[in-house]
Amino acid sequence: MTTQTTEAPVREAVLSLTGVNKRFGAVQALTDVSLHVAPGEVVALVGDNGAGKSTLVKIISGVYESDGGEIRIEGKPVSVHGPAHAQELGIATVFQDLALCDNLDVVANLFLGQEVSRTSVIDEVEMEKESWRLLRTLSAKIPSVRIPIASLSGGQRQTVAIARSLIGNPKVVMLDEPTAALGVAQTAEVLNLVERLRETGLGVILISHNMADVQAVADRIVVLRLGRNAADFTVEEATTEQLVAAITGASDNVVASRAARHKGATDE
Ligand SMILES: Nc1ncnc2c1ncn2[C@@H]1O[C@H](COP(=O)(O)OP(=O)(O)O)[C@@H](O)[C@H]1O
Ligand SMILES: [Mg+2]
Repeated sequence: MTTQTTEAPVREAVLSLTGVNKRFGAVQALTDVSLHVAPGEVVALVGDNGAGKSTLVKIISGVYESDGGEIRIEGKPVSVHGPAHAQELGIATVFQDLALCDNLDVVANLFLGQEVSRTSVIDEVEMEKESWRLLRTLSAKIPSVRIPIASLSGGQRQTVAIARSLIGNPKVVMLDEPTAALGVAQTAEVLNLVERLRETGLGVILISHNMADVQAVADRIVVLRLGRNAADFTVEEATTEQLVAAITGASDNVVASRAARHKGATDE
């Protein structure tokens, strides 16, 4: 049985992983995993609990070191030495807990730990201007940048966390379950943000449990199962049934049957 998908991306990938392995003690969390993201492409990373999604995200964002494999950014092999280095390399991550400070305002949260300083005095005017610029990039609906995070909705908080990830002009943004805690209207708002990120030419990796969200916004869907690549669909070709089958392993031959369909199409 082979469930590997190592197809070359159509456009040159901004981020490319091949042969990534990660073991935690007795648990082989990732085995020979590949993932490619092009600029202006939204790749959804899906899979059941324990499939290895978070581990993969943490390897890309420098939280964990892989046990082998290659990471390339714009074709250049890199090793990621920690989260700060990942940011320098142009990889931004919005973790599921968002890590916002409820009692601080939007500007303070956007610049937490990276205050724009001019002769060691924090330039509040500059930071406020930059905050509005970032929020405009996302067409975000935030009433004021001087209100505390505590008074924002879940969707607005997600907006602030995404805006913060854009400081430093990343090439790739990873979003871990951005709609997990949101209602319908706020989910739609966040999916709009994902589309804005794509329009700005970023490579976007979206981790989600919600197949409707994934199908609404992704260009490509990469399925992990038991730490391995199980399927790689374009959003047009994947039916919900096929996705579920790939996630659960109900059908081990999703990739094979797809390859057969492709072959059938080219033979005609
Ligand atoms: N820090 C860790 N220590 C030990 N095992 C881990 C650790 N992180 C993840 N795992 C294991 O690795 C596998 C993949 O987990 P994870 O990446 O969290 O999956 P997902 O995010 O898809 O639910 C699981 O079997 C999990 O128990
Ligand atoms: Mg996880």
